[in-house]
Amino acid sequence: MVSRRTLLAYIAALFAVCVAQVAAQSQAPVIESVNSPQASEDTLSNEPSLSSALASASVSPSPISFIASNNTTSTGAPASLNTSAGSVSSRLSAAKFIAGLFWSSQTTGMHRRCSATVISENLLVTSAACAQSQNPISKFGNGEWRIVAGTDDRFLDVPAASAVGNKVASINMSTCANFAAILLSEPLTLGKSIKPILLSNSPAFQTTTVVTYNTTDPAVDPLVILTPGTDEACELLFPGYSKKGFLCTLPVDKQTVTADYLGGDPIIGFVPQDGVAEPVLFGVTGLYYSTIAEAQAAQANDPTAYRYSPLVAQQVGKLASLGGLDAQKIATPATPI
Ligand SMILES: *[C@@H]1O[C@H](CO)[C@@H](O)[C@H](O)[C@H]1NC(C)=O
Ligand SMILES: *[C@@H]1O[C@H](CO)[C@@H](O)[C@H](O)[C@H]1NC(C)=O
Ligand SMILES: *[C@@H]1O[C@H](CO)[C@@H](O)[C@H](O)[C@H]1NC(C)=O
Ligand SMILES: *[C@@H]1O[C@H](CO)[C@@H](O)[C@H](O)[C@H]1NC(C)=O
Ligand SMILES: *[C@@H]1O[C@H](CO)[C@@H](O)[C@H](O)[C@H]1NC(C)=O
Repeated sequence: MVSRRTLLAYIAALFAVCVAQVAAQSQAPVIESVNSPQASEDTLSNEPSLSSALASASVSPSPISFIASNNTTSTGAPASLNTSAGSVSSRLSAAKFIAGLFWSSQTTGMHRRCSATVISENLLVTSAACAQSQNPISKFGNGEWRIVAGTDDRFLDVPAASAVGNKVASINMSTCANFAAILLSEPLTLGKSIKPILLSNSPAFQTTTVVTYNTTDPAVDPLVILTPGTDEACELLFPGYSKKGFLCTLPVDKQTVTADYLGGDPIIGFVPQDGVAEPVLFGVTGLYYSTIAEAQAAQANDPTAYRYSPLVAQQVGKLASLGGLDAQKIATPATPI
């Protein structure tokens, strides 16, 4: 459980950095090396503006039409996301593009931090709030990040001892966009149990809602339908959110700032492909804001807060270059509405 002070510091720093960035247009990227976790993450540096990232992306964003996410089965999810229950929800088990980001402490073992979504055998994405090592260091002691994929251990707070995970080489964070790219030094074995997901290069969705997974309690049905807020309301709480590459969504049932304040879970839409609904990655869940004043007071449990989640569309070029991948192959082809 995060302290309110940490959350407060993070949100305050995020605002400060983004405000400073607009003024300064600095180009210095924010990099965290896993091998030097002692580096102060409170010293959030500036980073390239999202518009310059967008300009350099080799795939130009264009709208794709997501099909209704709750139309393919009577239970509110595409059939590809299994609905039967178990100790780990089979919807989570079926989502083979979700891995877990774990802190591997020399003294206290492995601890789950967040979801990370598989883009390729050596590239995953999550939120920057998840990928900062300060909190796990203070809670669990020195250690390093690991990725666990392919088994239900990826959802457990403490995985089986056999789940040692794959070593992380570096995490490239954009604190202003609250986005993190994780590069592995030990690649995943893609196949039946670990499947990468395509990025959506659409900056907006027109036709229907998208969904995310609440991975806080793996036994519970995780699917959460997200609905965008009106531009007017979203602008009030986070001016320029859209240009900065965020999706703004309405409060959902049972949301608590403390239960899933870190975000990092995949936000997916569905595209029709050969008659089935194929998931594509639209973004990763981000922070809740209510009013800036409330955010700065770190309201622990704000059922009225909107959520601002980084979209992947503006990260496609950067992710392709980080992972040594072809941007055309990791993003969905544009399908005009
Ligand atoms: C999805 O399901 C909700 C609740 O059952 C319903 O209100 C909504 O209209 C549905 N959307 C579509 C596109 O079918
Ligand atoms: C929803 O399902 C019905 C019945 O299977 C189908 O006729 C309709 O075209 C579907 N709508 C969408 C948007 O996929
Ligand atoms: C759905 O999950 C259940 C229980 O985990 C499993 O037995 C079944 O094979 C799964 N179905 C599919 C289509 O994956
Ligand atoms: C996520 O799951 C946790 C644990 O079951 C629950 O406390 C919380 O309310 C859930 N959040 C949402 C938004 O459903
Ligand atoms: C992190 O990303 C930035 C922006 O794309 C890039 O300039 C920088 O070289 C990256 N850092 C590493 C270690 O790859």
